[in-house]
Amino acid sequence: MSQLITILNGPNLNLLGKREPEIYGHATLADVQADCSAVAQEFGLTCELKQSNIEGELVDMIHTCRETSAGIIINPAAYTHTSVAILDALNTFDGPVLEIHISNVHKREEFRHHSYVSKRADASIVGMGVEGYALCMRHMGSLLAK
Ligand code: DQA
Repeated sequence: MSQLITILNGPNLNLLGKREPEIYGHATLADVQADCSAVAQEFGLTCELKQSNIEGELVDMIHTCRETSAGIIINPAAYTHTSVAILDALNTFDGPVLEIHISNVHKREEFRHHSYVSKRADASIVGMGVEGYALCMRHMGSLLAK
C-alpha cells in the first residue's frame, strides 16, 4: 500500500481563493489537493488534504496522522504564531513535517514573524503562493525515498 501524506490547513484557509486574493491568490484548497495529488503520484505516494478552523481539531488530526501518515505538510495559518498545542502535537509525530505559508510571513506584520511550528518542522516554504504546497510534496517524496 502506498504511503499517505496528510496536508493540514488551519483557520480561514477554507476560504482560500475568496479570502484576501491580493495576498493569497485565487486558487482554492481543491486546486491545492489536485496539484499535490499529481506530485504525490510521481513518488508513489497518496495524499489527503484536511482543514479546520478549530485548534483542538487540528491537534486531533495530528494525532490521527500518528496512525495513518508517513508525513505531514502543514499550513497552520494564524495558529502558526500562537499555538503551543499544535507544536506539542507535532512533536508526538515521528515522520517528516514540512511547514508552508502561502504569503511571505517575514515581509508582513511583526506578529507573523514567529512560528511555533518551525521549532518542529524539518523544512519550511514561505511566500511561493499555493505552489509551495506542491513543492513541499516534492520534497516529501525525496525525503521518504531516502
Ligand atoms: C498564512 C500566514 C499566516 O500569518 C496567516 O494567519 C494565514 C495564512 C499563509 O499561508 O501565508 O492565515 O499561514
